[in-house]
Amino acid sequence: MGGAGYQPLDPHNQRPSSKHHGRFVSRPACAWLVLGVLSMALLHLLCCSPPGTQQAVLSPLRQYINNTYSFVSSVPGEGRSCNYSVGNWVWAPGHARRYNATECNAKESHDCIRNGRPDTRYLDWRWQPAGGCPLPAFDGGAFLSAVHGKHVAFIGDSMARNQAQSLICLLSAAFPYRLLHRDEGPRSYNFWRYAFPAHGVSVSFYWNPFLVKSTGKSEDEAVRENHVHLDTPGDRWGADAGAFDVVVLGAAHWLLNGAIYYNESRLIGAHGYPELNTTGLGYAWPLRMAYRTAVERLRSDGRPRTVVLATFSMSHFEGKPTDDPTACTRTEPYRDGEKDNEWVFREVRDIVYDEAAAARARGGGNSTLRVEVLDVSKLASLRPDGHPGLYMRPNPLANGMPERMYSDCLHFCLPGPVDTFNEILLQILRKKR
Ligand SMILES: *[C@@H]1O[C@H](CO)[C@@H](O)[C@H](O)[C@H]1NC(C)=O
Ligand SMILES: *[C@@H]1O[C@H](CO)[C@@H](O)[C@H](O)[C@H]1NC(C)=O
Ligand SMILES: *[C@@H]1O[C@H](CO)[C@@H](O)[C@H](O)[C@H]1NC(C)=O
Ligand SMILES: *[C@@H]1O[C@H](CO)[C@@H](O)[C@H](O)[C@H]1NC(C)=O
Ligand SMILES: *[C@@H]1O[C@H](CO)[C@@H](O)[C@H](O)[C@H]1NC(C)=O
Ligand SMILES: *[C@@H]1O[C@H](CO)[C@@H](O)[C@H](O)[C@H]1NC(C)=O
Repeated sequence: MGGAGYQPLDPHNQRPSSKHHGRFVSRPACAWLVLGVLSMALLHLLCCSPPGTQQAVLSPLRQYINNTYSFVSSVPGEGRSCNYSVGNWVWAPGHARRYNATECNAKESHDCIRNGRPDTRYLDWRWQPAGGCPLPAFDGGAFLSAVHGKHVAFIGDSMARNQAQSLICLLSAAFPYRLLHRDEGPRSYNFWRYAFPAHGVSVSFYWNPFLVKSTGKSEDEAVRENHVHLDTPGDRWGADAGAFDVVVLGAAHWLLNGAIYYNESRLIGAHGYPELNTTGLGYAWPLRMAYRTAVERLRSDGRPRTVVLATFSMSHFEGKPTDDPTACTRTEPYRDGEKDNEWVFREVRDIVYDEAAAARARGGGNSTLRVEVLDVSKLASLRPDGHPGLYMRPNPLANGMPERMYSDCLHFCLPGPVDTFNEILLQILRKKR
């Protein structure tokens, strides 16, 4: 049995530590070290896929919500404007117990309950946005109505996939569905499409952690480098994009880790490969370019679309080695203000806001694209308790507490805090213009 040894850390011992951060390095530099290096091993576990074609399932082209230039996860509720990006997690027993992840084919490493995670309080919180604005619990019927007849595509890294899987689980728990496509073998979690026939809705996921065309490690774990073409959309989603109505883009972790970058097949520089003696590009500019190329591809055919840029969701290794079995063993969220960790994600989040604003500006007065930000950075940063941790594998403590064992402190358990990303996505999509 898995319970022994999975001790919650005393929250009072965790209190700290804003003063400890950035003692040796500047905060931005430290941020990418924390984010990049610590989540690197985890990202290495994720795969990949060679380009190929995938049968596009065209949902009927329907009239879509009017274009818009509104701001972000700020959504008019009943007569008032809600900013879902700031708030607090409040105790709400059972709020996140909405599906059985085994039944919706969640990745085994996110199915914490099946893997024997003994504590369940992480399922008993709901996000309360600041200012008393309500965030309704996820309502599958409302979601499917909001995207009636439409194709919803998630494109990005393993956090985008985590959210996409959460959406499938939330919807399939209440509505009939069909699996339309799933790649074979190790890519089976990376390229898939479901249909919800009663509403004419399709939901897809495309693994493309740089958003743009990339070869190397993102396709084959055995390769060391990432080769990333900043001017070209990812092959597979780029080929299918004509069928998409709602697109959620989520990237950053892999850009923080580094890549070798190209424009028009010319090497233009790199991040994280000092031995190449080429221009150091950092992560911020390539991240902007990747969003830009992706958004412009989604604009190029003139089809009305909603494009949602998801912000960065940080990991919670808390400075411990990724194979430290105590790396993320908290069983309670942080209270707002308990932990000053906003500096870790702020710079990356701000890039997403900037690029959304830039995309709206490029559209001018009558763009067919509606561009929104799904800002989950703050709410995710307060949930160190929501990760699989050691329970990324079945019964990790069957033989007692190991000295070294890898923990997943990046993705969220399903069900878990990532379901809230979809609660906010629903409010964004329901917003009528
Ligand atoms: C967009 O909104 C305007 C007025 O707000 C309305 O007249 C028009 O029909 C709408 N267009 C679509 C495609 O819904
Ligand atoms: C919502 O709050 C965040 C954090 O304070 C802020 O950055 C963002 O601009 C706000 N959004 C709106 C639309 O006011
Ligand atoms: C989830 O579903 C699986 C397969 O149907 C079942 O074996 C398991 O007991 C269920 N778990 C819970 C917590 O209900
Ligand atoms: C790529 O090169 C073209 C033409 O040389 C230029 O217009 C464009 O801005 C470049 N894009 C990037 C991402 O560097
Ligand atoms: C790096 O490139 C510069 C400019 O091309 C060159 O002067 C320098 O010798 C190179 N350094 C190494 C270590 O190759
Ligand atoms: C809006 O689109 C029309 C037709 O495509 C074009 O003639 C007009 O200049 C555009 N207006 C703006 C403000 O971009």
